[in-house]
Amino acid sequence: MGGADEYLVERPRLRQFVGNVKRILAESPSPAEALRRLREPFGRLLADSDWLPEAYRQPCETGGMGSNIGNWLLYRSGDGSLSLFSLVVPPGASTPVHDHLAWGLVGLYSGEQEELVYRVVEAAGETRVRLELAQVNRLRPGDFYELVPPDNDIHAVRTVSAEPSVSIHLLTKDIGCIWRHAYEPETGTVKPFRSGYTNAACETEA
Ligand SMILES: [Fe+2]
Repeated sequence: MGGADEYLVERPRLRQFVGNVKRILAESPSPAEALRRLREPFGRLLADSDWLPEAYRQPCETGGMGSNIGNWLLYRSGDGSLSLFSLVVPPGASTPVHDHLAWGLVGLYSGEQEELVYRVVEAAGETRVRLELAQVNRLRPGDFYELVPPDNDIHAVRTVSAEPSVSIHLLTKDIGCIWRHAYEPETGTVKPFRSGYTNAACETEA
């Protein structure tokens, strides 16, 4: 299924990284093993300040995450099994609380973020879930973490630096285009959520 791989940023460094990721994914018998092996190349990508063009480090007024957040697709595979994007959150702004339904790595490239990690206390059907704030993580450039559903998959991120924060997200689905969930922890409300990408379209679903 699917078409060709798409590179929205054309840089040798990015192609090299994606090639590396695909090899590791093909060779790894489990997500846990893949994540363990991806840490080193992902850390090096975060440490390299050259490869991400300035245009992909900018907030955007029309992003699907709201609050002028930019989510810039950098690469996605033709079969929908892999995507890499930069999330740009203006100072003081926050994403909705959301899940991913895909495992991967998220790391900080510039600025500073706070990640609020939520745990499901009680689920009452598809539309109501009681969440509890489980952890607050402060992220500085080079720091990164794993997302692994279902237990480690719900969070919100907000920028705590004076400049926008830029984080790099490597996920094992075409994450901007799949339907997932946004949560309101105060009320327990759950809504269908598809973030889209600032700079790329999703095929419409029936
Ligand atoms: Fe996220």
